[in-house]
Amino acid sequence: MIRRRHRLLGAIVGLVLLGGCAKREAAKTGSTRPPAPVAVASAEPITPIPQTIALDDAKVALGKFLFHTPMLSRDSSVSCATCHPLNHAGTDHLARSLGVNHAEGRVSAPTVFNSGFNFRQFWDGRADSLESQIDGPLESDIEMGSTWRYVVDRLRREPEISAAFQRIYADGVQPANVRNAIAEFERSLITPNSRFDRYLRGETDALTEQERAGYAKFKNYGCISCHQGVNVGANMFQRMGVIRDYFAERGHITPADYGRFNVTNNEADRFFFKVPSLRNVAVTPPYFHDGSAQTLEDAVTIMARFQLGRSLPPEDRADIVQFLRTLTGEFEGQPLSP
Ligand code: HEC
Ligand code: HEC
Repeated sequence: MIRRRHRLLGAIVGLVLLGGCAKREAAKTGSTRPPAPVAVASAEPITPIPQTIALDDAKVALGKFLFHTPMLSRDSSVSCATCHPLNHAGTDHLARSLGVNHAEGRVSAPTVFNSGFNFRQFWDGRADSLESQIDGPLESDIEMGSTWRYVVDRLRREPEISAAFQRIYADGVQPANVRNAIAEFERSLITPNSRFDRYLRGETDALTEQERAGYAKFKNYGCISCHQGVNVGANMFQRMGVIRDYFAERGHITPADYGRFNVTNNEADRFFFKVPSLRNVAVTPPYFHDGSAQTLEDAVTIMARFQLGRSLPPEDRADIVQFLRTLTGEFEGQPLSP
């Protein structure tokens, strides 16, 4: 696994440097579980999502309840699932999420599916684990508007909930245990068996000729230098607008557009974002941190233009889009739907 990654890095580093984006961080999963190793025949830069993952079932069940209960929000109006509904691919499909009192957020909500494979959480990577991610929405005035003291008191008042915590955690309802249970549930939100993963596992005819051509173009144009690994992304930070200035052309720059800079205060990080996962991307519009692209066609055109300095012939764009559509996986045996 390690050796494979080194070979891969060697192969892509040239591409990345060509794109002028020398900055790179080694994949790191924080306290989340690393993906289980999978046997793949060839050394592809993308690896399949494991079919199953070893988790604590009792914690997953408790986390599932906590993810769906509005009790975590100040006015009991919002749950995690409000903005990340699992029957809608784990996202609210808005350019800006709406939290308590209909307050508008600053960026688009990524899906929670496969978030356990992200090397960091949030567009700017400010949380390094699923556990620490949870403080963000819980305490944000524009999301759940809550506090840990309020949440702990609220949950302790329900005898059944208290008992459920006690059965798993000796110290009962505690912020760390709420975080741990929700994170364990999120780690269960994996979407194996996409047609592309079946192809990687050796089912050559799981993809059409056009989709295979799209994958080849995805690699040849250099999309793969940033979107790679088990999550087809989410293992490095990169600038939005490597070759051309995306923000100057789009206009109306907001503080959220500074991305990673807001976390590090390092000028070199301005406009850098966690490269998003492209798993299930066909069912998770709108695209980009600003939700500015409504269709995959538009997102791919923008990527080619600003990241690679290319204008794609319609046929190449169509092939790449068809390839991206093969990345939709299954949850509980059903393909994700928008
Ligand atoms: C009001 C809508 C809203 C609510 C409620 C909400 N989220 Fe989010 N979630 C978002 C937005 C918007 C982002 C992106 C924020 C950013 O990157 O700055 C996000 C990001 C995330 C991420 C990071 C995904 C990634 O790819 O980086 C995870 C994981 C997540 N939320 C889980 C949760 C959990 C767990 C809860 C409940 C405790 C929750 N969310 C509640 C809107 C919401
Ligand atoms: C230099 C690194 C880099 C390259 C090369 C690159 N991307 Fe991206 N990609 C990113 C980053 C960073 C974002 C997030 C930008 C943002 O939200 O502002 C992104 C976002 C996307 C999204 C939107 C995903 C979502 O959920 O919002 C799609 C689709 C995408 N890229 C496809 C491609 C394709 C196709 C190519 C090749 C034509 C490509 N990318 C090349 C770094 C890259």
